[in-house]
Amino acid sequence: MDSLHPAIESVQSFVHTQPWYLSLLLALGSVGALRFGAQTLVVLAQIFLLPGTSLKKFGAKKGGGAWAVVTGASDGIGKEFALQLARAGFNVLLVARNSTLLSTLGAEIESTYGVKTGVHIIDFAKSDEAAYASLSGALDELDVGVLVNNVGKSHAMPAYLVDTPLDEMSDIVAINVGATLRVTRAVLPGMVRRKRGLVLNIGSFAGAVPSPMLATYSGTKAFLATFSAALDEEVRGHGVVVEHVNTYFVVSKLSKIRRASMLIPTPKAYVRAVLGKIGLPCGAAFSGRPATSTPFWSHAIIDYAMTAVSMPALFVSYTHGLHKSIRARALKKKAKGE
Ligand SMILES: NC(=O)c1ccc[n+]([C@@H]2O[C@H](COP(=O)([O-])OP(=O)(O)OC[C@H]3O[C@@H](n4cnc5c(N)ncnc54)[C@H](OP(=O)(O)O)[C@@H]3O)[C@@H](O)[C@H]2O)c1
Repeated sequence: MDSLHPAIESVQSFVHTQPWYLSLLLALGSVGALRFGAQTLVVLAQIFLLPGTSLKKFGAKKGGGAWAVVTGASDGIGKEFALQLARAGFNVLLVARNSTLLSTLGAEIESTYGVKTGVHIIDFAKSDEAAYASLSGALDELDVGVLVNNVGKSHAMPAYLVDTPLDEMSDIVAINVGATLRVTRAVLPGMVRRKRGLVLNIGSFAGAVPSPMLATYSGTKAFLATFSAALDEEVRGHGVVVEHVNTYFVVSKLSKIRRASMLIPTPKAYVRAVLGKIGLPCGAAFSGRPATSTPFWSHAIIDYAMTAVSMPALFVSYTHGLHKSIRARALKKKAKGE
């Protein structure tokens, strides 16, 4: 019989000369390393190679097919969703408070992409039943293929809960949780009836990492992850996909960041990644968070690394330190009247 390959022979002799528990540890370590390697390859393929589900599946058609509804559409990430969904072939219903900004955006979208637009004015902080009834009425008239629950509010600056103004707390809950629930509830029956739909809930790393001094915002964003996973399971069999989109920083009014970098994309680059990776968890794969996707490449790598490190207490304490220094800087700026 041929002798074994020298490398295998040396492994065998190593194993035989070691106590059994060291061999067991070695075997377990090798399995763990192989598993981590395979998972990393899957994550990298999703981030950099694989395309997401086509938007055509949700009713996009040249010249305007189904409607996309975008909340918080007048600025930042929401405005970009409106533009890119129109370019993909959706008519777009723009929802926010500022009618001038929304009408200007609607006109720009119609002339650039040849699709229909509508504007609906609502202040989600007010949780006003009549306002929700009017929005539901407008939504009932439309064949909605995509809903982007984008509207969001954060704290004016990091602060301990005991120092957080009560109206700021209730506005954050009404906008981040209340609006998502109510708008989704209004749109979903039609999607289920038509057996087609995509609901994107725009979340935040502040929901994945409990964030001291932004506790209310952090809690509302954590709600989105659990809500999306539960709802996705409810409606997936009816042809409707619900996705929680995990977001690190993006240039915008809300983040107060004006310059883009490798870690902080413009809304344009960010939304392009979201719409190109529908159905792929990317950085959230293997994180134990069903229906969550972290699609932007650098955000995805951070998310995957955080899952691999798996030390949540460390991240909470780091975030606490970070927010203390952001608050100190914000207070200094405020004192100078900037
Ligand atoms: N930017 C980031 O770094 C970042 C990171 C993680 C997650 N996110 C999430 O991404 C989403 C969009 O954030 P963004 O950065 O694009 O914010 P943004 O630039 O501040 O835009 C917010 C949008 O929401 C609308 N809005 C605010 N309050 C409203 C209210 N009471 N009723 C109706 N509409 C309201 C605003 O328009 P009007 O003022 O005209 O109403 C605007 O269109 C949010 O859910 C946010 O939590 C952002």
